[in-house]
Amino acid sequence: MKKAIYPGTFDPPTLGHLNIIERSAALFDELIIGVGISSKKENTIFTLEERLSFLKKITKSLPNVSCFSFPGLLVDFAQEKECDIIVRGIRNILDFEYETTQSQMNKALSGIETLYLFVDERFRMISSTLVKEIGKEGKKLETFVPSEICDKVLSKLHLVT
Ligand code: COA
Repeated sequence: MKKAIYPGTFDPPTLGHLNIIERSAALFDELIIGVGISSKKENTIFTLEERLSFLKKITKSLPNVSCFSFPGLLVDFAQEKECDIIVRGIRNILDFEYETTQSQMNKALSGIETLYLFVDERFRMISSTLVKEIGKEGKKLETFVPSEICDKVLSKLHLVT
């Protein structure tokens, strides 16, 4: 049985993330979504509970997907959950540069390989940072954020402005 982990900060999850989740869920028997607690992005707008609840909502129809948070290193959590592969999405050359060192370090630490999926063309311009920026200004987010969580994302963004 092939089990993969898709890690991220997901502040908030976007349609780009969901696209990678759906495609990975079709490739593996089981997909774990791991929300990193000690990622470099410590000042998230959405709490860990909110991000996990968003992820659970948008993956409700995918029976082989489950969502967790993890402290510490990704590779330790991946090993604890017996995942063979780490999945990441690549949007552009900057992602590629960043992901190269991450995957090499993760492999050196654990032997776990990283599988990269190119983000679909229509989602390449999305980033959680841009979603927060435009949401705070009251723009509609339906084109960027899954419909199930759109209202909650917008109302929180309005609260923090
Ligand atoms: N479509 C559109 N946008 C996407 C995307 C996709 N498919 N996939 C990622 N993105 C965007 C996100 O919106 C986000 O945008 P932002 O930078 O504006 O916030 C950005 O790409 C990356 O965010 P995300 O996918 O949430 O992941 P991350 O890079 O924040 O995740 C961890 C980082 C959690 C994987 C990493 O910090 C980690 O492994 N932490 C644990 C500690 C550890 O092991 N460190 C050592 C590693 S060697």
